[in-house]
Amino acid sequence: MSESSNSETAKITLGENTYEFPVLTGTEGEKAIDIGKLRSQTGHIVYDEGFANTASCKSEITFIDGDKGRLSYRGIPIEVMAENSTFIETAYLIIYGQLPTRKEMSQFSQKVLRNASLHEAMMHFFDGGFPFTAHPMAILSSLLNSVGCYYPEMVTNQREQDLEHFDDAAALLLSKVRTIAAMAYRMKNGLPLIYPKRDLGYSQNFLHMMFTEPYHEYYPHDDVTKALDLILLLHADHEQNCSTSTVRMVASSGANLFASVSAGVCALWGPLHGGANQRVIQMLMEIHKSGDDGTAYIEAAKQGKTRLMGFGHRVYKTYDPRAKILHGAAEKVLSVVKVKDPLLDIAQRLEEKARSDPYFIERNLYPNVDFYSGIILKAIGMPLDMFTVMFAIGRMPGWIAHWREVASNPKGRIIRPRQVYVGFRTRNYIKMRYRDGETSSDYEQDEHKSFGGGSSENAAAKA
Ligand code: ACO
Repeated sequence: MSESSNSETAKITLGENTYEFPVLTGTEGEKAIDIGKLRSQTGHIVYDEGFANTASCKSEITFIDGDKGRLSYRGIPIEVMAENSTFIETAYLIIYGQLPTRKEMSQFSQKVLRNASLHEAMMHFFDGGFPFTAHPMAILSSLLNSVGCYYPEMVTNQREQDLEHFDDAAALLLSKVRTIAAMAYRMKNGLPLIYPKRDLGYSQNFLHMMFTEPYHEYYPHDDVTKALDLILLLHADHEQNCSTSTVRMVASSGANLFASVSAGVCALWGPLHGGANQRVIQMLMEIHKSGDDGTAYIEAAKQGKTRLMGFGHRVYKTYDPRAKILHGAAEKVLSVVKVKDPLLDIAQRLEEKARSDPYFIERNLYPNVDFYSGIILKAIGMPLDMFTVMFAIGRMPGWIAHWREVASNPKGRIIRPRQVYVGFRTRNYIKMRYRDGETSSDYEQDEHKSFGGGSSENAAAKA
């Protein structure tokens, strides 16, 4: 499994000179011009705002064909994983590159289970360490980095040593991210902190930790557990998105796994990325409250006054395959929990309207994974500010696998993009008294000169 470099080349002509660059072909046939020598040969760099056309790395983990709506983890289509697998088995596949044998699966699950609780000293974070108003994503990011402090042998920032402890660190993070998330919720809601149970599966354990009340243990309906597990599985990786690229960027400096995933959580938090699932529900509630059938909201989105949250994607120019799976799952969960949620009807109406509107058709804007995941999370009782946290728990296997890919690449370089500078050219340092309006004609003259490429002498300094 690797890219192939064939005889095909790309030519770039600059003035009278033509330069040739190799073309790489990925295993799914996608082509990339290797411009690794562009600057040294031509003195030019490329400009690609938002990296829409730039491959930042070679990766073996996840493949997306945005035009055809295909997504696969380590070569296995997402639909097949959704039908047959669990989040933990999927995590193994993504992290280690193949499906586990029965023995490997059992060892991995045991390791994840054994690591579920937090060091007792960490409990203090939930006892006044954060204000009740703290967003759980802030708590999650801080504590994922902090948890590494209890395992100094795993966070040495020395690649070989951190990789030696990789199996333990990966299981630990997969497990503790769920415990930290549930504890953050309990702290915020004034509920007593409770520990994970040894006899419960991954998603069931999480729901138990979230919703158990004093004198009332919560055990979710199997279909509710399955729906959450499916959401986590569908979020497990999505190649070079904003948060995963952040994880890879931090990892490229040699930073340890804990620091890298903690940065990933911060990148995920924003409303254009993982924060969109929360915004989808807020948008649907707003539409419901206003009595709009979606028409006014769509018009506002078309005029650029707002965005149709849960719609559009940098890579998918057709239906996000995860959204398709979750649409069906949403209907099933609502029937299981016996909730008739008007927001689902609004979502379906919005989708129908948007899909027949030229604005959305021309721009290839389709529902993305967040459009229906929010409906499911709401139906199973997840509070809004935990939605993005669910995404973070789901994305953990992907971040871990990408960290490992970066850390174990002996030829890897620190990620350090370039820029096209459009700021001021050389300017004078103006002393405070002149900035305050006290000017001298002598100073003004010299300032003018320096902008025209003349003297850069600091006239103010002369004064
Ligand atoms: N509603 C209305 N118009 C939109 C939307 C939207 N949701 N998304 C894109 N557009 C329009 C833009 O205004 C732009 O129009 P123009 O060409 O007339 O200027 C055009 O479509 C292209 O949009 P870009 O912003 O250039 O697309 P980009 O690839 O940069 O952004 C993104 C992708 C951020 C996902 C965008 O579609 C968006 O903001 N969607 C809503 C937020 C959302 O759902 N995010 C979750 C993404 S999935 C994930 O992270 C799991």
